[in-house]
Amino acid sequence: MNREQRISAVKSRITIHPPEPFRIRVIEPIDRISPLERERALNESGLNTLLLDSKDVYIDCLTDSGTGAVTQSMQAAMLKGDDAYSGSKSFRKLESAVEDIFDYKLTIPTHQGRGAEQLYVPTLIDFREKNYGLERSKMTVISNFFFDTTQAHSQINGCNIVNAPIDDAFDTNKLACFKGDLDLDMLQTTIESVGAEHIPYIVMTITCNSIGGQPVSMANMQQVYAIAREHEIPVVIDCARFAENAYFIQQRELGYEYHSIEEITKEMFQYGDLFSMSAKKDAMVPIGGILSFRNHEYFDVFRDCQNLCVVLEGFPTYGGLEGGAMERLAVGLYEAMRQEWLEYRIGQVRYLVEGLRGIGVECQQPGGHAAFVNAGKLLPHIPPEQFPGVALANELYLVAGIRTPEIGSLLLGRDHKTGEQLPCPAELLRITIPRATYTQSHMDYIIEAFRIVKENVGSIKGVRFTYEPPVLRHFNARFAYVD
Ligand code: F0G
Repeated sequence: MNREQRISAVKSRITIHPPEPFRIRVIEPIDRISPLERERALNESGLNTLLLDSKDVYIDCLTDSGTGAVTQSMQAAMLKGDDAYSGSKSFRKLESAVEDIFDYKLTIPTHQGRGAEQLYVPTLIDFREKNYGLERSKMTVISNFFFDTTQAHSQINGCNIVNAPIDDAFDTNKLACFKGDLDLDMLQTTIESVGAEHIPYIVMTITCNSIGGQPVSMANMQQVYAIAREHEIPVVIDCARFAENAYFIQQRELGYEYHSIEEITKEMFQYGDLFSMSAKKDAMVPIGGILSFRNHEYFDVFRDCQNLCVVLEGFPTYGGLEGGAMERLAVGLYEAMRQEWLEYRIGQVRYLVEGLRGIGVECQQPGGHAAFVNAGKLLPHIPPEQFPGVALANELYLVAGIRTPEIGSLLLGRDHKTGEQLPCPAELLRITIPRATYTQSHMDYIIEAFRIVKENVGSIKGVRFTYEPPVLRHFNARFAYVD
């Protein structure tokens, strides 16, 4: 082999599992408790992996939210925290990072994503009510797919919700570049049937968590925004995983292959009026969120959100965060967009999905932050009302100490007016990968655990509620096995 061939041979090795683009210099030891202790722990948790103690978990794939590693620069930035109650230097740094990266001018920090939601959701709905004299019960909000907390906030404020994913988004056998796109026909039909004045906002979730971390194309963001503007409906970008979405656009959308992640990010955010961010994902902080408005067009809404912030989160220049946390977040927003970092991160998820597919486990096509296993297909003997995703999560924990959440009927919940279970397009199990926390050998262990679980699926039992909470039931639900 000449040197060029050797270089390309090494490069092709990198596409299998990209080596970590960092050195690990601080570690957290983890224990693996015995199978008997795991059984006891799961029983005590009401057969709900969400309620397990972290000390009882070997590999924790519950979430990528606030569970990742932070970088040296983020850690160092924390020391510069200014905790002035009002107008701190740390807030000004965060505000100018947001303006620099997204071109958004009016920023409110919040303790996390749902902190931002509890400010904008009631405020935008109040605005419609006051300005048009409308009844809440007739109001409807639309999204490519609402994340559970966004859905819950909209519903407890009296709105109906419409999820408008594209056809086949949940078909784990079908490939498409942008399964996170919002269905434009459904958007138009909903606007026509309920009337634009009854729609207080449209939410574009990038990447779309509930569909499997699937990206939204720039073209779709642009088209949705054009339709929304025509009908004077504000567009909210729910952007926990904005950098991962930008990376997919760069890799998959014609015309963006030579654009930097920074350029793509700036363009994506032109197609929204405000954004709500859980900064615990792409921005890699253990705690933090942002609500930001692009310009003064919705200044009255911004001001009302600031007022609500004082009551719910804290003074609007700290919103529940200490100065150091705002400094760390300002740095994390930039770190999230590093090209080699995103290649590694998405490459690791792809490696896991391909490994699972290789042993015959059907998964959603690789997305941004997790492998989504089709639990419904893996456990055909368990009907949706016995939650195959929960049953699989429990088995995976008992066999291998791996913790994962269900993303299916349990998470989707009931229609808040009729009390009926909402029809769920797919019963999934999410193997969520925290950032820079686990390595290739952890991925191999997960694949191996699945190989063993798959060989014995017939013995896995469904579950029924022994306690069902009224909202966001997956967090606190308790179950028993169905015999
Ligand atoms: N929006 C999206 C798309 C999310 O994924 C999340 C959280 C939120 C909003 C709420 O943000 O947790 O900071 O209050 N997702 C986590 C997860 C919990 O595991 O996917 P938060």
